[in-house]
Formats: sequence, C-alpha cells, structure tokens
Amino acid sequence: MYNKIKEATEYITSKIDIKPLIGLILGSGLGYIADEIEDPIIIDYKNIPHFPQSTVTGHEGKMVIGMLEGKPVVTLKGRFHAYEGHQLSKLIFPIYVFKELGVEGLILTNAAGGVNRTLNPGDIVANADFINFAMKNPLIGPNLDELGPRFPAMAKPIDRKWLKRIEEKAEEKRIKISEGTYCWMMGPSYETPAEIKMLEKFEGDLVGMFTMPEIIAANHCGIKAVAFSAVTNMAAGILHQPLNHKEVMEVAERIKYKFAKVVKIAIKTF
Ligand code: HPA
Repeated sequence: MYNKIKEATEYITSKIDIKPLIGLILGSGLGYIADEIEDPIIIDYKNIPHFPQSTVTGHEGKMVIGMLEGKPVVTLKGRFHAYEGHQLSKLIFPIYVFKELGVEGLILTNAAGGVNRTLNPGDIVANADFINFAMKNPLIGPNLDELGPRFPAMAKPIDRKWLKRIEEKAEEKRIKISEGTYCWMMGPSYETPAEIKMLEKFEGDLVGMFTMPEIIAANHCGIKAVAFSAVTNMAAGILHQPLNHKEVMEVAERIKYKFAKVVKIAIKTF
C-alpha cells in the first residue's frame, strides 16, 4: 500500500510545481469552492495511479491543485463513501497522498442531517467530535508504519486551536458557526426515525455518511484537521417528512456562498 501511495504522489508531483500546504475535501454539492482556485492544475482521479473512483451524482472525480486565499491547496472535488462499495482502507488513500504531497492541514466539508433539534437546514456546524456508528474502522489491515502508529489516539480528532481562529474570524464576518458531534452512519439509505432517536440519546448533533474515516486517517498520519457540516435537512423523524437527495442538494446550493466563506477563512487562518 505504501508503494501505491508513493506512485500516486509521484504522478501528481510530476504535474505541479507548487507544494500544497492545505488539503480540501468537498462534500455533496460543495465542489464549487474548487472553481475559485487560481492557476488550477486539474487531474482526473482516473489518471492517478491506484486512486479510488467516485460514483455518486453530484460528486465529480477531479483533483484540483493551485492557490486559494494566497495558500497552496490541493482539493478533491468529489469524495468517496463506503456505501459505494469501496474498501474503507482504499477510501482514505487520498489522505495519505495528501500527506506525502506535504499537506499539513486538512479541511473537510460535508452535507449532514440535523439531529439536534435546535439546528436548522442551512446551518453550518463545526464537527467538534465524532461517534463511529458505522462500527467500522478504515485502519483495519496491516498498519502503514511509514505513515503512523498502529494505535493512533483519537482524543483530539480536530485541531481546536485552528477551529478557534476560524470561529473568531467567522464571528467578525457575522457568519454563525455552531459546534456539534458528528455521527457517522454507513448509508446509503437514510436513517430510520428510531436510529435518529438513538443518536439523540447519545448526544449526537449531526448525522452523515462519511468524514469520520478521513478524520481517523488524518489523525493517524499527523495532519491537522477541521470539518464542517452544512445541515441540509433535519434527520429522519424530526420533521415527519421523508428525506430525499434532491432536498439535500438544494440546501447545499442555497448556502454555498456562506459555506465557501467559511472554507476560505479556514484556509486563511491555518
Ligand atoms: N443522513 C445521513 N447523511 C446525510 C443526511 C442525513 O439525514 N443529510 C445529508 N447527508
């Protein structure tokens, strides 16, 4: 696996002449932020050796590298989910490629359902902590000793100092960001009302179908991470109406400028 990561990194390095400092992974309907990257080098996932391929509508399969807010960034436009049938260990491959490229900070965005009843569709919530309700771990398998320890700590899943700087800047710009615990559920079916009741009892605030494996990988290989959810809907059973993917994409579209500002603040304050 380590050799595959090296090969993918070498291919990417041969196409660029900057060293990305920040990695950006953009969730459902949020890929537009990559369109603002200056002097972008765009690489199709399918051309990168050993890179996983995305299959969901609304997820493009492109790596974009360039400058954003004055910093060198690498972004994945279109992320991968366990529900696409990939092995989890394969899905965190890009995080390790980021690490080898020289990335030190990772910004993750996702669309999530609101579990906490004080949330509303359109809210932006920093993922302050995580619960693994998928009951799977992407690090299962031989450990990549070159990249990190067998038993990485998850006591500080995100970089609190970085998040504090982001929150302060967002407040100055009158963008409201709250904090919550993100619950990873496997998908692709949305949750049942009983499952959401369970998450509420465990004090989960958000529910989504990935992000946590990426956080685990970032902690494993020593990349500082922050993650933000766009609340695209209230989770199942809270509003007594069925969820659909279209609604999720519509809300993501509605808040895209606000969300883009948060991502830019995160880049600036790293
Ligand atoms: N559940 C899981 N994932 C999601 C949801 C949800 O309600 N909304 C957006 N992603």
